[in-house]
Amino acid sequence: MYNPIQNTKGGKIGVILTDPNDWTARAFVKNIEKRGANPIPINLSSLSASLSTADFSLFSTDLKDLELDALIVRDVGISFSLESISFKFDLIRQFESSIPVMNSSAAIQNAANKFFSFYLFKRAHLPIPRTTITSELDVAVKTIEEFEIVVVKPIFGSQGKGIIKLESSEPDLKLKLRGLLKERGVLYLQEFVPNPGRDIRVFVVGEETLGAIYRVSLRGSFVSNLSQGGRPVKCELSEEMEELAIRTRKAVGAYFAGVDLIEGEEGLFVLEVNGTPSGKGINQACGIDVTERIIDLLFERVNFRT
Ligand SMILES: Nc1ncnc2c1ncn2[C@@H]1O[C@H](COP(=O)(O)OP(=O)(O)O)[C@@H](O)[C@H]1O
Ligand SMILES: [Mg+2]
Repeated sequence: MYNPIQNTKGGKIGVILTDPNDWTARAFVKNIEKRGANPIPINLSSLSASLSTADFSLFSTDLKDLELDALIVRDVGISFSLESISFKFDLIRQFESSIPVMNSSAAIQNAANKFFSFYLFKRAHLPIPRTTITSELDVAVKTIEEFEIVVVKPIFGSQGKGIIKLESSEPDLKLKLRGLLKERGVLYLQEFVPNPGRDIRVFVVGEETLGAIYRVSLRGSFVSNLSQGGRPVKCELSEEMEELAIRTRKAVGAYFAGVDLIEGEEGLFVLEVNGTPSGKGINQACGIDVTERIIDLLFERVNFRT
């Protein structure tokens, strides 16, 4: 059992978000208020940094006070340049040197990277589908011949966007791969796992799993993301799901995570981990508010100044 810290009154908790109407962002704000602290919504795009030999400051036209006690990251937002995305993560990184931040920039980046997260999963002995990442056409062709059916994914993708299925028997396979390589520069090829038309999203906060949903794919679709028409349905957690989800969260160094599992013919595989998960689907399907427990965990780590 955990004992939520009570002396949170007057604390200032930054909430990194892009859409203030997003269900999860609002739930974070509400739960921070419920604990008597002040939520400070922050869009990283609105922050400027100023440096000199003697000083470092952050400022924003719509925020007067950036003296925070802790920071919760709902979402960092999409960026169209490498410079802009790294500036956003570096802003989070500098907060980490003085206050608790959840999840950390490193954990969010580990989770968002489909190659590096898989490397960390493998190192943690987690079950994952066979995956090859390559910029070589011949290696790509060989991989598909071996796996027979693959999904090709962007290394930094989300919401099921840009994922395609390819079969080794496909006419013009080489031509298609050449086109994809030209477009993406590198191919992330993963063995397709035959499954019951759904995946499983498990919510983990610290050492606890709070619940899980099946995401049932739309008929005719092989991706089950809610943003692609997938339907959230309550899933009873098995011990195996709980254990895998907690180990997956730890593998990327996150405090909380949405862990995606898929039911293969021979057992569960880890598909991915999300370090900035939405709490909406599980709230709809199970009536659980995951943000409440996340805020409790954050408050356990804060030394409030007030
Ligand atoms: N190897 C696979 N085998 C079968 N289905 C997959 C596989 N990889 C992904 N999918 C389906 O595609 C969806 C999106 O894939 P995922 O790797 O989670 O990318 P994203 O970050 O875009 O959500 C999954 O939720 C699952 O339904
Ligand atoms: Mg996913």
